[in-house]
Amino acid sequence: MKPKLVRTVAALRRETAKWRAEGLRYAVVPTMGAIHSGHTQLVTEGLKRADRVITTIFVNPKQFAAHEDLGKYPRDEDGDVRKLGKAGTHLIFSPAPDEVYPPGFSTTISLAGPAKAGLEDKFRPLFFDGVATVVAKLFTQTGADIAMFGEKDYQQLQVVTRMAKDLDIAIEVIGVPTVRETDGLAKSSRNVYLSKTERQQAVAIYRNLQNAAERIRSGVNPQSATRSATRTLMALGFKVDYVTARNAQSLSIPQNRDEPLRLIAAAWLGKTRLIDNIPV
Ligand code: PAF
Repeated sequence: MKPKLVRTVAALRRETAKWRAEGLRYAVVPTMGAIHSGHTQLVTEGLKRADRVITTIFVNPKQFAAHEDLGKYPRDEDGDVRKLGKAGTHLIFSPAPDEVYPPGFSTTISLAGPAKAGLEDKFRPLFFDGVATVVAKLFTQTGADIAMFGEKDYQQLQVVTRMAKDLDIAIEVIGVPTVRETDGLAKSSRNVYLSKTERQQAVAIYRNLQNAAERIRSGVNPQSATRSATRTLMALGFKVDYVTARNAQSLSIPQNRDEPLRLIAAAWLGKTRLIDNIPV
């Protein structure tokens, strides 16, 4: 099925109004394009929970820092439309930057809580304000009942969940488990940058997170379990940005034993930065 493509908020709302009039429930899958199996999995999961799925394609300038090359971000709208059609998306919203941020646009959502957990925010200080601003707009523009986000970007998932709750946006944010290669490595468009040897080593992140989770479940202190995972990864040649146990929702450092925990890691292997996370 070839999905309908709309570029303006007015056209988007004409389509969603028809669905509402028919009593249909719909999901939104926000993306920046460069569609891969992680995105199509979000569409598949959206289709299980809603009658219609909208995928948005928008390379959001507000989440790029000055040194990050917005112009180099991969763009292939025709390829994206084909892949999204195959996955079952009904409608694609692919606006131009001016449609999202018209002249005079002056509002940015300023975040605290999970957005300031000292994880990805430590490396990209303005990133989540930009993400939250565009995602809030996409939520209100689409008026979707549910939104699908990958658990792979775990901090982003918690940030948008908190933002929607705090701003009373009537949408349910659903986290979709990370899609993995057969050896357990989290699927990512960055995996292609790994050399053959690095590709074999890369799964060590997932294995060490699993090992740390196992140890925490058997009573080891989360800080010691993650410290020893960090040491093992460093010994294997990773440059570790963080391996940490956090409260699964607030991402704060756990204060007591019965908090739900998430183990979260980011590490470089050669020139490739890998991220992963698992529940305890
Ligand atoms: O995860 C992404 O691709 C982006 O951060 C998102 C959620 C589409 C917002 O631009």
